[in-house]
Amino acid sequence: RIAGPCSLVIFGVTGDLARKKLMPAVYDLANRGLLPPGFALIGFARRDWSDEDFAGVVHDAVRQHARTPFRESVWDRLAEGIRFVRGTFDNTDSFDALATTLSSLDVERGTGGNHAFYLSIPPSSFPVVLEQLSKSGLAAGESADQWRRVVIEKPFGHDLQSAKELNEVVNRVFPEDRVFRIDHYLGKETVQNILALRFANQLFDPIWNSHYVDHVQITMAEDIGLAGRAGYYDGIGAARDVIQNHLLQLLAITAMEEPVSFSPSELQTEKIKVLSATKLAEPFAETAARGQYTSGWQGSQKVEGLKEEEGFDTESNTETYAAITLEVDTRRWGGVPFYLRTGKSLGRRVTEIAMIFKRAPHLPFDATMTEELGQNALVIRVQPDEGVTLRFGSKVPGSSMQVRDVSMDFSYGQAFTESSPEAYERLILDVLLGEPSLFPVNAEVELSWKILDPILDYWASGGEADPYQAGSWGPDSANEMMERTGREWRRP
Ligand code: BG6
Repeated sequence: RIAGPCSLVIFGVTGDLARKKLMPAVYDLANRGLLPPGFALIGFARRDWSDEDFAGVVHDAVRQHARTPFRESVWDRLAEGIRFVRGTFDNTDSFDALATTLSSLDVERGTGGNHAFYLSIPPSSFPVVLEQLSKSGLAAGESADQWRRVVIEKPFGHDLQSAKELNEVVNRVFPEDRVFRIDHYLGKETVQNILALRFANQLFDPIWNSHYVDHVQITMAEDIGLAGRAGYYDGIGAARDVIQNHLLQLLAITAMEEPVSFSPSELQTEKIKVLSATKLAEPFAETAARGQYTSGWQGSQKVEGLKEEEGFDTESNTETYAAITLEVDTRRWGGVPFYLRTGKSLGRRVTEIAMIFKRAPHLPFDATMTEELGQNALVIRVQPDEGVTLRFGSKVPGSSMQVRDVSMDFSYGQAFTESSPEAYERLILDVLLGEPSLFPVNAEVELSWKILDPILDYWASGGEADPYQAGSWGPDSANEMMERTGREWRRP
């Protein structure tokens, strides 16, 4: 579907996200013919830029980071609708200037009074920008056929209380159906495929429960450190940065019941139900772990420890690795632990969901024949090597009966010639189309904080993050956490 006439205003155009993801995604959408001819892109920032200067910034970002090939004709058409408004968040005149620019674009480009406001700014600035959008009349369309939407980047608060306060501020200006909270993991092709895998097939559903599944491991490992983001990350840490949003959304989609339909509200209903039934396993000293990377080696490259990162407080106890155990108290999942872990500067970049199955209740083999047989596993490879792996035992060729683990792979690269859009491309298009399925609602955000708050409080109450070497798979305490249950982390 192609978006209708509209403009997209980005607050925070000088930031990393805008340069690396948002501007390239807009170009890719234009290149795929998914934007309307008169589309307009407006940057709002403090810099002393002209429209041409800003267009130059977008141009460079596109050349560096766009997915699709650069085509002059597409760029020229997009560039005609690029404008820059110089202003500060607390200055009413700046927002009046923005309103004037948007109205003239309505005439020049036919954007029809339809505007999306993308807040790619620090959360501390959300309230002032929202208030200005309200005061300047920009938050509300002038007639019923004009839409106004707001897009909010995480973090949505830093605990349940602050998330509630933030949601209140947002909803005072934009009603919930006009709020699009970005969790870019939901824009990933492989995450949407979890729905197809589970609900378009007959094969998996019968075993997708506590009768067959021993436990679930959801891993998001990164091989990069803070890469210059110390300012944002210090005081936030791995659990708030990744578990509260991306990993709990992955859990929700993996564990939820079948929605009545794929309508946004039915999907949300099921996600909200399963998140309501999810809680941390205790005692935390045994069921959770956190760590902070120290210097080490990533392949042949020497990596500095966190405390040597520029801008990082050397006294900081912020975790760069977090692992937790969750219980999902439903008939389907009672007794099945969900282990979630994420970390920076780990051995490899990989995100996956692994369903680890119980062992067969009886094996009609001598013990020596099955020494190399592990537990069956279904692994949804979210990235970077997108696909699905099924691990099971098979007879080793030869005269004796020996069983060894083998794997059967589905790989996106081999199965499809179609290319996947980048997550932000998909999500920005959905904002412009007013399609909310892939955006977590208020209730999901608050439930996620409700799940996580107890461990954040526990960590804040004392103790230190355990050191782990950059390039390793996390602190020893995370391995001990699994060993206590007789299980072990996968080494993807
Ligand atoms: C962001 C986190 O939400 O996701 C970052 O703030 C993290 O810390 C990033 O690096 C990872 O995204 P992706 O798509 O590269 O897995």
